Amino acid sequence: MTTPSPDAPILFFDSGLGGLTVLGPTRALLPTAPIVYAADYAGLPYGKKSDEELAARVPALLGRLVERYQPRLAVIACNTASTIALPHVRAALDLPIVGTVPAIKPAAERTKTGVIGVLGTEATVRQPYVDDLSARFAAGKTVLRHGSPGLVTAAEAKLHGQSVDPDAVRNAIAGLRDQPGGDAIDVIVLACTHFPLLQEELQAVVGPHVALIDGAAGIARRIAHLTEGQPWPAEARPGIAAFTHSDVHPLPPLAALAPYGIGRIETI
Ligand code: DGL
Repeated sequence: MTTPSPDAPILFFDSGLGGLTVLGPTRALLPTAPIVYAADYAGLPYGKKSDEELAARVPALLGRLVERYQPRLAVIACNTASTIALPHVRAALDLPIVGTVPAIKPAAERTKTGVIGVLGTEATVRQPYVDDLSARFAAGKTVLRHGSPGLVTAAEAKLHGQSVDPDAVRNAIAGLRDQPGGDAIDVIVLACTHFPLLQEELQAVVGPHVALIDGAAGIARRIAHLTEGQPWPAEARPGIAAFTHSDVHPLPPLAALAPYGIGRIETI
């Protein structure tokens, strides 16, 4: 691969604001990396879409974004898009693509009871990819899954400065715990990048003895590894957040994105 210009950004992509939970730990490792954070508000929520629709939509949109921003690497900071569209995106685009997959492996290493919960979108939890991860990394353990669109709405609301619906959080946890064997869950995989935005609210409901884990730190390390030795700007500059236009979802306040190094919002 040719050496990228120091100004070539890392592109983060999600349906909404969940990918910020991957951007955060990446900035901690690569503090001067130029950032473009892209959110497909016109398509939010992805968890309600069909596999066919996402397999077509995600590569097409990423193609547009790559043309516009010329990133050195793209991160699909969305479990739903990654578990469905990652091979299509890799086939369509000629740059390194990092995906986000449910952190079932670390969860299997951590559980003492042998019962793991996987909380994702409805689209993610039905993927054969999740069966495959469970068979490879959690053989002999019980993996219970639940799809929660309510948590995506709650996480978006939180970053828009609105209150989080406590029922959405309680119902999501009940969706796991009320399954046979669910009361023995001691590790929950947050298999949607929106959900770590509700870490405190979720932890308050599950209590201190259930671990909530996600894959963001590992993805950040992977991005740092893939860009090792590449030139970066000497100083951090404000990043860009690009949103596809939606009549349903208003843009978030810039103040909610500023802690992630974003200094400008644009609609694409
Ligand atoms: N943040 C996304 C994920 O990781 C999806 C949220 C949605 O659009 O439903 O799965």
